[in-house]
Amino acid sequence: MTLPKKFYKRMQTLLPQKDFDAFIESYNRPAYKGIRINTLKDPQQKCISHLPIQTYPVPWCPTGYTIDGDIRPGKNPYYYTGVYYVQEPSAMAAAEALSANPGDWVLDLCAAPGGKSAQLSCQLEGKGVLVSNELIKSRVPVLASNLERMGSANGIILNAFPQALADRMPEIFDKILVDAPCSGEGMFRKDPTILKQWSQEAVMRFAGRQRAILDSAYALLKPGGTLVYATCTFSPEENEGTVNHFLKKYPDIHLLPLSLKGVDLTGFPEAVTPANPELAKTQRLMPHNIPGEGHFIALMQKEGSPSGSPKLNKKKGVMTKITKTELRQLSDFEKDFLTEPLGRNLYKWKDELYQLPQGLEPTWFAGLPVYQMGLHLGTFKPGRFEPSHGFAMHRPAEGFRYQHAISEDDEAYAYLKGHTLPDQANKGWTAVHYRGYNLGFGKVSGGILKNHYPKGLRIFKNI
Ligand SMILES: C[S@@+](CC[C@H](N)C(=O)[O-])C[C@H]1O[C@@H](n2cnc3c(N)ncnc32)[C@H](O)[C@@H]1O
Repeated sequence: MTLPKKFYKRMQTLLPQKDFDAFIESYNRPAYKGIRINTLKDPQQKCISHLPIQTYPVPWCPTGYTIDGDIRPGKNPYYYTGVYYVQEPSAMAAAEALSANPGDWVLDLCAAPGGKSAQLSCQLEGKGVLVSNELIKSRVPVLASNLERMGSANGIILNAFPQALADRMPEIFDKILVDAPCSGEGMFRKDPTILKQWSQEAVMRFAGRQRAILDSAYALLKPGGTLVYATCTFSPEENEGTVNHFLKKYPDIHLLPLSLKGVDLTGFPEAVTPANPELAKTQRLMPHNIPGEGHFIALMQKEGSPSGSPKLNKKKGVMTKITKTELRQLSDFEKDFLTEPLGRNLYKWKDELYQLPQGLEPTWFAGLPVYQMGLHLGTFKPGRFEPSHGFAMHRPAEGFRYQHAISEDDEAYAYLKGHTLPDQANKGWTAVHYRGYNLGFGKVSGGILKNHYPKGLRIFKNI
């Protein structure tokens, strides 16, 4: 791989000679690949012993595993159940550093395609609120689709400018992740187009953008709240430089020491002028000394103590309460097809039914570019309720009265292609699962399971 001259020279200046040689040598090896088990679906990580993939633990992430380079983890029926997420191992470190607790209000400010949001969602265990924001509109559907497959239910997906969010809900979040847009120097092995686009000018442009995003993150963070700033690049301008600028601008922000398991390289205090010894509290993951492609991570805290519940503007929202007739349709659906009730905090947006995170008022997000609020449960059709794909992906198979169990890959592929399946055992809405993990819904009538796997997600051939 031919590296840009300026990049090569800068890395040579940045790293001690021995490290630099090992770093350059790492470009002769293939990129690391990984998967992270989705503990929302498999809290005990039981699937590990059944996966047709050899896995090796990632030191800094108890649910993360590296896998062999020739494995294609997205080409496997398990992938479609959402029991794991395909994620580069060093990318797993940022959410580990943030370490959300159930009940927290968490913001992932730069969220698409959603790997870190999915990981934060596991940490929340369904309690609290996860706001996943993505600025680039075309990247929002893939974020939503990934979170849907993961079965995440307490999320709000937004397509907002960070500044607009900060103006609307200052000091709301306990924990914020800024996984910033960056020059992606840690992606060169994985995606050579990033290497082609690299320039020192782009590095400086990203550094400016990161500083603006952090201004908004500062405004959104509660006093006493914590913030992780992460990039997948090596340039000091975008890492130590951006953090140093942030610390100088906001004296009530302090770095907390970070000690990710298996990571011994810290950020470089001398990468800024004058040198800032505090930067040794940050960590660098680099491909020559950890099993991953590379990340920079800084954990910071805002001084002060949180002041009670969120102070949110109350604007008129678009979500409405459900009517008595709809409530009847829902209770019929519940009685006929569920083994556990739907629960509370149900709201409608047009004919679509959503379940919002407990304690969340729909008006709180009114006026913001909301893509999705909470879990999409289904649609009210004339005289009946039709469950959504997201509902099947969220609820375990046992939560449904009727289940169609698939254990053979060929039958799983037939379902994923949209084929009907023979089924003499079930009636009506039926959860179709592969070895215990739902793939989606089917509707059974007269011995045939009509396929309700969403058309846009279907596969075209066996994988
Ligand atoms: C490194 S990626 C995030 C990856 C994501 N956290 C994950 O784990 O899947 C950075 C994201 O920031 C978004 N972005 C670009 N410019 C931005 C800006 N000015 N403000 C906020 N986000 C921006 C990009 O579209 C991109 O999706």
